[in-house]
Amino acid sequence: MTLPNNEKNHLFLGTFIHSKRLDELQYLHDTAICVNTTGKIVAIEPECDQSKAEASLYPKLGWTTHDVIVTAAKEGQFFFPGFIDTHLHAPQYPNVGIFGKSTLLDWLNTYTFPMEASMASLSKARKVYTRCVRRTLAHGTTTATYFATIHVESTNLLADLCLSMGQRAFIGRVCMDQLGPDYYLDESAEQGLAATRANIAHIRSIDRDFELVSPIITPRFAPACSADMLRRLGDLAAETRLPVQTHVSENVSEIALVRELFPDSPHYTGVYEQAGLLGDRTILAHAIHLSDEEADLVARRKAKVAHCPCSNSAITSGEARVRWLLEKGIDVGLGTDMSGGYSPSVLEAARLACLVSNHLAMPNKQADGCSQSEKEKSKLSVEEVLYLATRGGAEVVGLSSKVGSFEVGMDWDAQLIGLDMVSEEAVDDYTDDGGNVEIFGWETWEDLVAKWLFNGDDRNTKKVWVRGRLVHERRS
Ligand code: GUN
Ligand code: FE
Repeated sequence: MTLPNNEKNHLFLGTFIHSKRLDELQYLHDTAICVNTTGKIVAIEPECDQSKAEASLYPKLGWTTHDVIVTAAKEGQFFFPGFIDTHLHAPQYPNVGIFGKSTLLDWLNTYTFPMEASMASLSKARKVYTRCVRRTLAHGTTTATYFATIHVESTNLLADLCLSMGQRAFIGRVCMDQLGPDYYLDESAEQGLAATRANIAHIRSIDRDFELVSPIITPRFAPACSADMLRRLGDLAAETRLPVQTHVSENVSEIALVRELFPDSPHYTGVYEQAGLLGDRTILAHAIHLSDEEADLVARRKAKVAHCPCSNSAITSGEARVRWLLEKGIDVGLGTDMSGGYSPSVLEAARLACLVSNHLAMPNKQADGCSQSEKEKSKLSVEEVLYLATRGGAEVVGLSSKVGSFEVGMDWDAQLIGLDMVSEEAVDDYTDDGGNVEIFGWETWEDLVAKWLFNGDDRNTKKVWVRGRLVHERRS
C-alpha cells in the first residue's frame, strides 16, 4: 500500500530552530515554511508573515487560501525538528524506572526477558505498544528505531500501530537463539530467519516502499545469537540492503562473555564484522568500551552509534566517549534505550548526554590518563546534544536527506515547543503553579533553548507532525 496524502497544504509561521552543524543551531525568525499535501517542505521564506505568504508564495505554489491550514507560533513558542530515537525497546515500556541496582546481564534475566516474553499475547502487546507509541510521540519522537520481540504477530502489530498513529519507525523483530530462557528463544537459526522474513513481508504489505515504517534486521546482541544465526542475518542484510541494529560493548561482563563465546574473533566488533553485519546501515547501541581498533573498524565500515546515556547511567554500564567517536568520523545519534533507560524522552537523553560528557571531564576520573585539558574536550554543548537528537540521529538511521532539519525538499517532521511566559498576575499570585519552563522575557534565544533542554518535558511539546500529518496535540 502507498501512503495517503494529507488533505490540505500547511503554512507554518514564526521562529524555526534547527541544527546547521554539530555545534551550531540556526534561528530563523519571522519565517514562513510551506508544506504540501505529501508532507514535503516546498518553500522557506524569511521575513514573511501570512499576508506576504498569501500574496507571494501561494501563487508560486498554486495554492489558494481555502486549501491551506495556517499554524503560527505564539510568543514563547518555536518549531524544532522532531526527535529521532535511534534505539529503544517497545515491549520494555511497562518496565520504565524498574531496574533496581541491576547491571546488564542480571537486568535482562530479572526484568526484561519475562516482560518481552509476555508480548506473545497480542492483546497485551496492543496495550503496551499503543501506549509506547503515544507516549514517545507526545515527547516529540517523530522517528523511532524499535526493538520488538521474537514474536512475529506482535511485531507486525507494532508496525501497524506506528503506521496508523503516524510515527516514522524502524521495526526490528528480535533474533536470539541462545542465552535467553527456554521460554523466550528462537527455536533455531533457521526458524528465526523465517520469522524475520515473515515480518519483513508484512511490513512490505502495509507500506510497500517503507516510506513511514521499515523493517530492520535485529540480532539482539552477539551473546544471544549463534554464529550460524549471525551469518544468516548478515546474508539477509546483503540480500535485502535493509538496515541492521544490535548492541555492542555495553557492559564489561557482556564483553567477557563475548570473548568466551567467540574465541576466534579479535574483539566484540569483530564478531559482527565476520558475520557481514557491519556496514553503513548498521546501528550499534552503546559502544561504551570499544578499543581504538574497534572504533577504527566501525569508522571504516561507516557503521553508526546510538548513544544511550540514560540507560548507561541507570544500569551502571559506563560512559560512552562521544567526542572520541565523533572525532573518528563516526555518526552518533541518541537513544533512550527504554527501559534500560528510565525515560521515553529524547530530550532527557540529550540532557543526560551533556551530563555524562561532563562526568568524563571531571578531574577525579581515572579515565585514560589523558590531561585535564584533553578531558575538557569531552564536554558536549547544548547545541551538540540537540544535533545528536535530530540531524545526527537522521544520519544514524539513514534519513538525513529527509528528516532532522528544515530544508526545502525534506519532510515536515517537526514539533511546536512552547515555554511559559511569567505573567504579571503570576507574580502577584503566590498560589500560581506557573509552568515547568518559565521565561521572563529578557532571555536570549540561546538561553531559551538551554532552559528547554534542561527543564523541559512533554508539557512543552504542544504539537507534533510527521510527514506533514498532525500526530500529537497536547490538550493543556
Ligand atoms: N543487550 C541485549 N539486550 C539488551 C536490551 O534489551 N537492552 C540493553 N540495554 N542492552 C541489551
Ligand atoms: Fe537496548
